[in-house]
Amino acid sequence: AKARVLAGRRVVITSGPTHEPIDPVRFIANRSSGKQGHAIAAAAREAGAEVTLVSGPVALPDPPGVTTVHVETAREMQAAVEASLPADIFIAAAAVADWRVAEPAARKLKKGPGAAATLALVENPDILAGVGRRERDRPALVIGFAAETNRLVDYAQTKRLAKGCDLIVANHVGEGSKVFGGARNEVTLISSEGVEAWPSLDKRELAARLIGVIAERLARTPP
Ligand code: C5P
Repeated sequence: AKARVLAGRRVVITSGPTHEPIDPVRFIANRSSGKQGHAIAAAAREAGAEVTLVSGPVALPDPPGVTTVHVETAREMQAAVEASLPADIFIAAAAVADWRVAEPAARKLKKGPGAAATLALVENPDILAGVGRRERDRPALVIGFAAETNRLVDYAQTKRLAKGCDLIVANHVGEGSKVFGGARNEVTLISSEGVEAWPSLDKRELAARLIGVIAERLARTPP
C-alpha cells in the first residue's frame, strides 16, 4: 500500500486545455492532453487527499475517487476553482487559453463576400495568479506549471513571483520534446529554495514524485 502522505488534505487541481467559443460550432483551443494534471489528481488521491479536479475538455476518464468538475472555458474553470476553495493545495496544470473571443457569435459564422475575417480577442483571467495572490483562504501551497522553449529557469522564476506561487514546475517544450500528448515529461522544479532538475519521467512517476515534494513541504508548514 502507498503511504497516505496527504491524508486529511484538500487538493484542487486544474487540468487539460480550455475551449473558447468563436460561434456555436467553433472554438480556440490548444494541444494540452490533460495527462499530467490527471496523473497528479490520481496520485494525490492515492496519497489519501480529498481531490477536486477541474478539467477542461479531454479524452481521459475521470480519475477514480476524485471529484471531477468538467468545464469548457477559462472563465468557467476559474469559477469552478473558486467554488472548490478553500483547499490546502492548489495545482494549476491546465493550459488555459490566454485569450477568448470578445463576442462569440450566436449563430454559425458564414464565409462569403463581406464576411469578417478577423476575431476580436480579450484576455482571459489568470486563474493561478488569482489563487496565488488571494488574501483570504490562500492555500498553504500554490503550484504552477510553466512551459518554456528557452531561458527556462529565468522565465519560470519570474512567473513564480508574478503569480504568487510557492513552486513552479517548468517543462521544456522545445522542438522534439514530445511533451504535448506524450507519456513522458522532463521538468525543473523552481521555488524560493532553489532549482532542481529532474530526469525525464513517465507522467505518472512525475506525479508521484511531485506529491512527495508537496507532502514534505506541507509537513514543514503548520496547518
Ligand atoms: O503564463 P503562463 O500561461 O505560461 O503560466 C502557466 C501557469 O499559469 C500554469 O500553471 C497555468 O495553469 C496557469 N494559468 C492559469 N490561468 C491562465 C493562464 C495560465 O491558471 N489564464
